[in-house]
Amino acid sequence: MSRILVTSALPYINGIKHLGNLIGSQLPSDAYARAMRQQGHEVLLICATDEHGTPAELAAAKAGQPVAEFCAEMHEVQAGIANGFRLSFDHFGRSSSERNHKLTQHLAGRLADAGLIREVSETQVYSHADGRFLPDRYIEGTCPNCGYDKARGDQCENCTKQLDPTDLIEPRSAISGSTDLEPRETKHLYLAQSQMREKLTEWIDSKTDWPLLTTSIAKKWLNDGDGLQDRGITRDLDWGIAVKRGEEDWPGMDGKVFYVWFDAPIAYIAATAEWADATGQDDAAWQRWWRDDQGAEDVRYVEFMAKDNIPFHTLSFPVTMMGASKEGEESWHLVDYIKGFNWLTYDGGKFSTSQGRGVFMDQALEIMPSDYWRWWLLANAPETNDSDFTFAAFQAGVNKDLADVLGNFVSRVTKFCRSKFGEAVPAGGEYGQAEAALTAEIETRIRAYEQHWDAIEIRRAAAELRAIWVAGNEYLQHAQPWAVFKTDPEAAAASVRFALNLVRLYAILSRPFIPDASDKMFAALGLDAASAEMDWPREAGEALSALSAGHEFTVPDVLFAKIADETREALEARFAGA
Ligand code: MF3
Ligand code: ZN
Repeated sequence: MSRILVTSALPYINGIKHLGNLIGSQLPSDAYARAMRQQGHEVLLICATDEHGTPAELAAAKAGQPVAEFCAEMHEVQAGIANGFRLSFDHFGRSSSERNHKLTQHLAGRLADAGLIREVSETQVYSHADGRFLPDRYIEGTCPNCGYDKARGDQCENCTKQLDPTDLIEPRSAISGSTDLEPRETKHLYLAQSQMREKLTEWIDSKTDWPLLTTSIAKKWLNDGDGLQDRGITRDLDWGIAVKRGEEDWPGMDGKVFYVWFDAPIAYIAATAEWADATGQDDAAWQRWWRDDQGAEDVRYVEFMAKDNIPFHTLSFPVTMMGASKEGEESWHLVDYIKGFNWLTYDGGKFSTSQGRGVFMDQALEIMPSDYWRWWLLANAPETNDSDFTFAAFQAGVNKDLADVLGNFVSRVTKFCRSKFGEAVPAGGEYGQAEAALTAEIETRIRAYEQHWDAIEIRRAAAELRAIWVAGNEYLQHAQPWAVFKTDPEAAAASVRFALNLVRLYAILSRPFIPDASDKMFAALGLDAASAEMDWPREAGEALSALSAGHEFTVPDVLFAKIADETREALEARFAGA
């Protein structure tokens, strides 16, 4: 059994995220963590809100709230929604935590000690109309790389290139729209990423098992020449982590804060420290996940993120981690595997907050139970390509896979048993050919299912699980206990006993995708859902004889209600956007 550290890219605090954001990191990280926990690994799943930078300031200004208050409220909102989707974070922290302030300053100090930070006097864009410098998202313009005309000062959304505000062509203030801008001198800190080019290249080249999406993006920026140019890691903003060198003041840096993309990934670590604090543990408890010199060498660290985040996680954050590490002092554990995602589109286009186009996480939970979304999104995760959400596809997936196949199976078996044998696993009869064949098939499929989880191939895992459900339905179709019962009740009893064991197996195997339904199935079988964590099927034959004759159960309520055509049409109209 291994120790697996899993992080999900940190959702920005600036607003409620949409389904595309959810399937781009948080949801798959949860499903993977669940699958690994169930298989007996020691797993730590960490996420947090990403609270600094211009997006937070702009959103707070729009909401008419002080930024600290806005962030505190929005953190609670996002935490509530994460619970609603059953995201099983061991800790959902905040990048604005005291832990992150201290750790960010500490790591910056170590980078400076290692000679990896340069102080640079540079020209920044100053806006007369706004009376301030315009870092990052405070400025918009045309991307020098691809020509997209709404590129932000920190990154072009269209081509993912990391930018500096002064790179933009025809820049304008995002606050006032003013083009009355002037370059002005100011002092900033730069992370000397270019010094790490060789080390970084060697490291990325060693990651031969990474998905193509991840390595191709990393290598593109690495070889591009300026992808690894030194980057400013400080900003002229009020809200953020004060620039300090460890615990010391940093001369000339008064009033400046670290750039949000410097402190955000560090918050993965800080949130782990918050977890230790929250659970009454000491520093050793979080350090054994992050510090190779404190026992983290055998940790497998897996990161989940959408593709626009890949450059930061393959270049800047590793530079921070490598740069802060030194033999005999501190040694930070680098990521072992990056799972990157493409985009989820909405009905062929983009999700848009301003146009009310597409479904946002809070709305999704109002409309349908979280399992429905979890299943569809995970089964259609944009792994190798973008994927498209439509309510028609969603309806088809839910109705077919969940209602017709899984839900129907559970309902038929439990109801038939109740009517003919009562609410306990029936005795009598023997398993024969059909049961042996299905057991063998399921054994093969479970091993494939495990491999897909190991490889974090989520669509494949979903397809395998669906096939396991379908196999159970076909078995029942074939065994026909309701017909056989009339002539051979013993044989019917054996089929039902076998099918009830399948229900138990389905509750276990389905849990990473649909934890609520899994809970209901466990409860109906009179089993403790928590034991699912221990009962991963090591061998199908054994797993399918876990419930013996006499074991009591109840018929569960309908597990999945079908989505009617009228409902689908109403939802299509509601979320089509302006
Ligand atoms: N908030 C960023 C986004 O939504 C992701 C930050 S991930 C981390 O794109 F590395 F900063 F943690
Ligand atoms: Zn671009």
